[in-house]
Amino acid sequence: MTILLIGSGAREHAIARALDRSSQNKSIYCLASNMNPGIAELCVEITIDNFNDPELVSSYASEIGATLTIIGPENPLAEGVADALWNNGVKVVGPKKTLAQIETSKSFTRDLLTEYNIPACPKYKTFLALDGVAEFLSNLEEDYVIKYDGLAGGKGVKVAGDHLNSHEEALAYCRELVDRGGKFVIEEKLIGQEFSLMSFCDGETLKHMPAVQDHKRAYEGDIGPNTGGMGTYSDADHSLPFLTDENIIQAHEINNATAKALKDKFGDGYKGILYGGFMTTADGVKLIEYNARLGDPEAMNVLSLLESDFIAICQGIVDETLDKVDVQFADQATVCKYAVPKGYPDNPIKGEPIDISNIENLERLFYASVDFKDGQLVEAGSRTVAVVGTANTISKAEKIAEKEISAVEGPLFHRNDIGTDELVQKRVQHMESLR
Ligand code: AMP
Ligand code: GLY
Repeated sequence: MTILLIGSGAREHAIARALDRSSQNKSIYCLASNMNPGIAELCVEITIDNFNDPELVSSYASEIGATLTIIGPENPLAEGVADALWNNGVKVVGPKKTLAQIETSKSFTRDLLTEYNIPACPKYKTFLALDGVAEFLSNLEEDYVIKYDGLAGGKGVKVAGDHLNSHEEALAYCRELVDRGGKFVIEEKLIGQEFSLMSFCDGETLKHMPAVQDHKRAYEGDIGPNTGGMGTYSDADHSLPFLTDENIIQAHEINNATAKALKDKFGDGYKGILYGGFMTTADGVKLIEYNARLGDPEAMNVLSLLESDFIAICQGIVDETLDKVDVQFADQATVCKYAVPKGYPDNPIKGEPIDISNIENLERLFYASVDFKDGQLVEAGSRTVAVVGTANTISKAEKIAEKEISAVEGPLFHRNDIGTDELVQKRVQHMESLR
């Protein structure tokens, strides 16, 4: 079978490894934005080109004779790459453009949940102009969040107390969005702990993955600018220490109900990964956002644990037979840590060499934003490499990940605190104080 993988970060390196582990006969090709040596090693060919262009991807798929494509990042989904491939007879893991609105439009998602009575939304309102904004802000008092209604690479969301310190500042941000011609959502700020719960989905059946907690802030102690995610952990029981059993059931139910709502609304089922970004609060689990793909770094946690055949899961998704596919994850904890360039995310240095030769076990290493200069591995400006530690407790997995990521040499930094007993305990105490 010829499989086309789209994307070339650490998430796609984790996908390539999961494909490679399958005992099925396969040839893997990759359309990439940078030369990822980990993916290159597992592929027949890695080609750098504009994978956000539906025509280009579709004709490349024909050229190599691909029958299955797996789309890693969100941008090709937003551009309709899945639609072009299906129209060309290529099956795709990753939703079509209308269904990908679950990620590309915050108001679409809030409205969908409201229409189908899925009780997971905070109070919210959508705006195209400033009319009514001041009134809604006074209704929410000091607990509000303002979100640009489209893909903004994590930069469109401003949270009261974090990025906005008064209703004047909030109004100024709304004015900026109106001037840019944008729609925006204002919603109630939820208080609790965030977690990711991703599900494989064939349109009808969902198979849920272990819950994971990401760390978006750049620096230790959850301070500094927002990033793509500095690191993640998951626990051996596939829940998280600060979640109740009921919380996991609620997250599963929200994903199940959302997939059903999408099928009902569009007739066409959602085929891919439904990634719920949730907040557990004093009032149960609420939805912060949906993503239409595997999380990065979350993919490294869950795919490192996947015991079942990943190609069989992909076939189940595209052929609507996921109910017949076995999906099992090892009962182990994982900690993933990223090393990122000095200055990331605002002014990352680029082109500087890094040295990975002191890593003890290269199976734990995932390449992300790297390139080659004069034959040397260099930083390409975004999250550089990730490592995953796996053990029977989060604490032990953290020690493995910390040792390995510290062995990467170059002008980089990482977060020491992710997965440590101290940080995990703080999260548990926070939830105990709210409940
Ligand atoms: P999003 O792009 O929707 O994931 O938002 C980015 C980040 O903003 C999330 O990871 C949360 O930390 C925060 N956020 C978004 N919506 C809310 C909300 N309603 N309440 C509290 N925090 C939020
Ligand atoms: N881990 C955050 C994301 O993938 O969007």
